[in-house]
Amino acid sequence: MSIAYLNGEYLPLEDARISPLDRGFLFGDGIYEVVPSYGGKLVGFGPHIDRMREGLALVEIDLPWDHDQWRQVCEQLMIKNGNGNLGIYLHVSRGADTKRFHAYPEGVAPTVFAFAFDIAPAPVADKSKAKAYKVSTTEDLRWRRCHIKSTALLGNVMHYQQGHAAGNNETILYNSQGEVTEASACNVFMVKNGEVITPPLDHQLLPGITRLILLDVLQKYTQIPVHERTITLEELNSADEVWITSSSKEIAPVTSIDGKPVGNGDIGDVWLAAQTVFEKHRFDY
Ligand code: PDD
Repeated sequence: MSIAYLNGEYLPLEDARISPLDRGFLFGDGIYEVVPSYGGKLVGFGPHIDRMREGLALVEIDLPWDHDQWRQVCEQLMIKNGNGNLGIYLHVSRGADTKRFHAYPEGVAPTVFAFAFDIAPAPVADKSKAKAYKVSTTEDLRWRRCHIKSTALLGNVMHYQQGHAAGNNETILYNSQGEVTEASACNVFMVKNGEVITPPLDHQLLPGITRLILLDVLQKYTQIPVHERTITLEELNSADEVWITSSSKEIAPVTSIDGKPVGNGDIGDVWLAAQTVFEKHRFDY
């Protein structure tokens, strides 16, 4: 049985209750995070909480929690749920008003909810064990504030479903200019002639924590050239390697895009080097 946290209390997940007037439920009016943990150790806790606090500030949800308060909830959830391979989901909505009205209400306490769910063991830098991802591509039709990690995920869900319905594991998105933004729940990287390239941060994509850690370890611990610059869909389709990154997947190699092989269709050597260095340093962040 999974133990969750709701508004100051730890309780079985199935006993957790919120009001149907909660703005998270009615409007998707909230901010969330997913922090991975392995054997009781969190990956990227500091940057995840920084991003959460920035998101809350951007949407003007006033929750004066510092890193220590969040750390305590994460640690309690890891302990109460067995310290295995756990994703820790953190969620703050604007709370439950007494009516449905679009304007931000005054004097309403935010709803704070968190729970732990099983994730796969930490990925290993081994081509024979890595899962090769197949992806679809489609035009990015989400809202234009994708830098905010909002709980309003219907646009992402619809894009994920497009890939899923086509028998693929993810959907890579491009804007109306044919530039790659990100995937429905991951950031995107490509490798061309030994160089690693990922789109620069702006409102079109989430500033992923895995992306941040990966760029940092590549720059600090390898000689691999790294560039943050625009990638066109055409370039993506002629890349030597493509990767998608997220907290639960780390660096996932993509071997097929819209049914066509990426490079020679195998997991690449630059992926191996990147996952090797990520693995070595994941708990430094
Ligand atoms: N997804 N882009 C989008 C749209 C995402 O939803 C995510 C994460 C990422 C990668 O971010 P990070 O490296 O910080 O996990 C990029 C989470 C895991 C989810 O919604 O489940």
